[in-house]
Amino acid sequence: MDSSMPFALLLALLIPILLHFVIRRKYSSYNLPPGSLGFPVIGQSISLLRALRSNTDYQWYQDRIKKYGPVSKMSVFGSPTVLLTGPAANRFVFSNQDLIITETKAANALIGQSILTLSGEELKQVRSALQGYLRTEMVTKCIRKMDEEVRRHIDLNWVGQKTVTVAPLAKRLTFDIICSVIFGQGAGPIREALAADFKKMVQAMLSIPVNIPFTKFNKGLSASRRVRKVLRQIARDREAALQQGHSSSADDFFTYMLVLRSEGTHSLTVEDIVDNAILLLLAGYETSSVLITFLLRYLANEPDILGKITEEQEEIARYKGPDEPLTWDDVSRMKYTWKVAMETLQTVPPIFGSLRTAIKDIEYQGYHIPKGWQVFTAIIITHLDANFFDDPNKFNPARFHNQSSVPPYCFVPFGGGPRMCPGNEFARTETLVAMHYLVRQFRWKLCCKDEGYRKDPVPMPLLELPIELETRSSPWICLK
Ligand code: HEM
Repeated sequence: MDSSMPFALLLALLIPILLHFVIRRKYSSYNLPPGSLGFPVIGQSISLLRALRSNTDYQWYQDRIKKYGPVSKMSVFGSPTVLLTGPAANRFVFSNQDLIITETKAANALIGQSILTLSGEELKQVRSALQGYLRTEMVTKCIRKMDEEVRRHIDLNWVGQKTVTVAPLAKRLTFDIICSVIFGQGAGPIREALAADFKKMVQAMLSIPVNIPFTKFNKGLSASRRVRKVLRQIARDREAALQQGHSSSADDFFTYMLVLRSEGTHSLTVEDIVDNAILLLLAGYETSSVLITFLLRYLANEPDILGKITEEQEEIARYKGPDEPLTWDDVSRMKYTWKVAMETLQTVPPIFGSLRTAIKDIEYQGYHIPKGWQVFTAIIITHLDANFFDDPNKFNPARFHNQSSVPPYCFVPFGGGPRMCPGNEFARTETLVAMHYLVRQFRWKLCCKDEGYRKDPVPMPLLELPIELETRSSPWICLK
């Protein structure tokens, strides 16, 4: 054995013990939750990330709850953290004013000054602007563009194929929808360049944030600069069109935000608006694509549920011409399809949890959470809790027939409280539009029956879900 090994082992044992005493001394007057902070900086990060990657995170949380109870301290993502579990904990984390969204170095560098970095009055202004832009009436006006993007995407990537790999296609579809609706950027070379650069940004977000040439983080930063340049130009073009009276606030996100600024509703610069547009895309396309991917994965093994969805969608199509786009009324009638989507969100929530930082000392259930510590809740904990959902692991959309039977803060795929996802209506609508065309035109089989999935950190089938396709009919006129 190497002579330095015993020393390293001793150090590995001693450091957590020393840290334990330092923390105990520093917070001697605090009633800290049970649990260990583990090794400095690393803490339980590796073990949690490993559990996410092997999709055993639910068991990981359960093991902690068994050992320490529903509130425990640990150390993840570089800081001491308190894990809170259960509906009351969800409510506490979502609505506590003294908890702010934890900023990561990578997100800050790549996205810039988006809503995630704001607090106080500025946060209120920007949150209300984003919510206003993504509200139902705005989404209603976007359905035509969503419909166009979905049909174009299917004609280009699905029609005539014997097999397709769902996850990358779903990502590309939700990316194109946001580009078209939110940025006002249709198909073409600019959108292709944006797609390549956003992919690099997502990879950088998940990498170690060290800015050395050729690292993922370095490539992500270069991509972010290029994206910013393109979006800045789009924003300036919209500003010019607005001044000449050639556009209205409903046209896209940039125009909407510029109109609000001229009315004095907020004081964001073009640069800030660009940062928030980048956040909308990053928050929106990976999440909705996970929902579409897993919907198709479940439906492949659930012929009865697929049959009912198809019936609902055919009924909607019956009164429409073959190339007539879907309307808000049509989407509102897709009630069963949305229940199946909710069941998918319940079993596989695209976002694994909410991470906040305490801006002052706070208390939860008699425990103190010191200023600067993180607070973390994992969405899956209540979603898979048999106290709130009968047989939670069974894929059963019928549980959403009576939504009032679900206790508050138990079903939280979109978060909750003042920072709840403002894009939920947008996500619902684009998912339903996509399902309308997919279930009517295709039947599919999983190429790999037992394909598991990892969370990295968003859920992703291990092989990205290759499927065999069979065409049912051609319900609309090809746009190509
Ligand atoms: C199935 C799809 C989606 C899911 C499951 C989802 C989930 C979430 C969750 C859980 C949060 C809160 C995170 C927290 O509390 O820490 C969130 C925030 C956010 N989401 Fe979504 N999201 C989806 C789609 C979208 C879409 C399509 C958009 C935009 C077009 C969007 C924009 C945002 C933004 C801007 C925030 C941050 C809000 C704030 O900080 O106040 N999301 N999302």
